[in-house]
Amino acid sequence: MDIRFASASVSFAGRAALQPLTLSLTERRIGIIGLNGSGKTTFARLINGLVKPTAGQVTVNGLDTVRDESATLAAAGFIFQNPQHQIIMPIVHEDIAFGLKNRGLKADEIERRTVTVLERFGITHLARRRVHELSGGETQLVAIASVLVTGPGILILDEPTNQLDLKNRRLVESTIGGLDEHTIVISHDLPLIERFDRVLLFHEGRLVADGTAEESIRAYHQVAGC
Ligand SMILES: Nc1ncnc2c1ncn2[C@@H]1O[C@H](COP(=O)(O)OP(=O)(O)OP(=O)(O)O)[C@@H](O)[C@H]1O
Ligand SMILES: [Mg+2]
Repeated sequence: MDIRFASASVSFAGRAALQPLTLSLTERRIGIIGLNGSGKTTFARLINGLVKPTAGQVTVNGLDTVRDESATLAAAGFIFQNPQHQIIMPIVHEDIAFGLKNRGLKADEIERRTVTVLERFGITHLARRRVHELSGGETQLVAIASVLVTGPGILILDEPTNQLDLKNRRLVESTIGGLDEHTIVISHDLPLIERFDRVLLFHEGRLVADGTAEESIRAYHQVAGC
């Protein structure tokens, strides 16, 4: 994985959400922390092109998020802050198969990949359930499976353990910890972030710490004043 920001910045209606940023991300597990409104989601959305830089450039494995829009979207999957927002089909099996149908795969290949991903996440028993009747933890696992079934090498998760009880939190944390894909996780769940290779701290639209989990979490306590 090689993600590069070259003086990339974002403004919404003339108001700066992210100050110009130059960095490169190559580590396997990257955490993003910071107070509410500090620019975390904006930063993460730049990576797969859901947000475009107002100035500067963002590339993912050499693909430009503006010029190579669909290739970047395919290279980096994104799990939204509220996974309900990305579930499209009513039944779990159909929702997971949906992204593969869109890619024009044959029916037997779609079925094979869907069954494999359901097994990988231990959710085969949910295949025929209605998505909107699932618990928060189950919904999160289905959302992750629906994105990973299409084979992105990079997975970006925006607060994946938010709103989960202790049991579901542990389930989702261990699932994320066991992923083969490169993962970039925004989280207020510091025990999850503690195990990551590199942690970025945002504050008021600026990257203010970039180092080990221990260093960035210490800096987070300082900017939060607690
Ligand atoms: N689409 C948008 N239009 C206008 N302003 C936006 C938009 N998206 C984000 N912002 C603003 O940019 C700033 C950073 O927002 P962002 O969502 O990146 O923060 P965050 O760190 O993810 O916060 P949270 O922890 O609450 O999710 C905020 O001031 C927000 O209001
Ligand atoms: Mg956010």
